[in-house]
Amino acid sequence: MRHTTTKAGNAKAKKTNRGRGNAPGPRVQQSEDGRRPQADSRQGKPAKNERSGEPLLEKFFLDQLKDIYYAEQKIAQSLPKMRQSATTEILQDAFEDHLLQTERHVRRLEKIFQTLGKKPEGKVCEAIEGIIREAETIIKETEAGTMTRDAALIIAAQKVEHYEIATYGGLVQLAITMRLDAAAELLDMTLVEEEDTDAILTEIAENEINLCAEHEGNEYSWEQVTIMTTD
Ligand SMILES: [Fe+2]
Repeated sequence: MRHTTTKAGNAKAKKTNRGRGNAPGPRVQQSEDGRRPQADSRQGKPAKNERSGEPLLEKFFLDQLKDIYYAEQKIAQSLPKMRQSATTEILQDAFEDHLLQTERHVRRLEKIFQTLGKKPEGKVCEAIEGIIREAETIIKETEAGTMTRDAALIIAAQKVEHYEIATYGGLVQLAITMRLDAAAELLDMTLVEEEDTDAILTEIAENEINLCAEHEGNEYSWEQVTIMTTD
């Protein structure tokens, strides 16, 4: 049985803009004196790898860009299956939108590599491999056509989002620190979109899916025991 609900399109994302105020552009961490933090170390120059002479922070930043470039491509591969497996139209639409957004994020990352004069390159991201494997297990272990399947898929998708938010959040701040303004701007655009997607998924779960899932099947098997919930 296919459930049809109202379209996600109306559930516009709340702009999260945590700590952002109304100022456009990347969120900048500021020191106590209100100035932008300086990339210089105590000697006035970024630390370098003793053997290769490569600046350590630059190498780490590039590695993280490769990690998220790989992760975005892996997410793009897995979203069609998640969309197909979803019960409700509202979640199918949300996954469809997420796929288009993910393809945009891949292109944006390629632009960032370009601004740095580097070739776009992925590096296996074990974390996303694990999160995607877990989503596949959820599909196997939940019944097709149920709302419980959708409640579970939303949690799986939000685990993906939270990984992306953590990575992009860190990369924006590193880009600002290294004064890579164009990269910071592009990374921040993606970060805001990831936060919006996360908010949309929460909204779908809270307003529709979880309540319907609650009415599926028989009564719960557990008996609630009263305990003190304070530490
Ligand atoms: Fe993304």
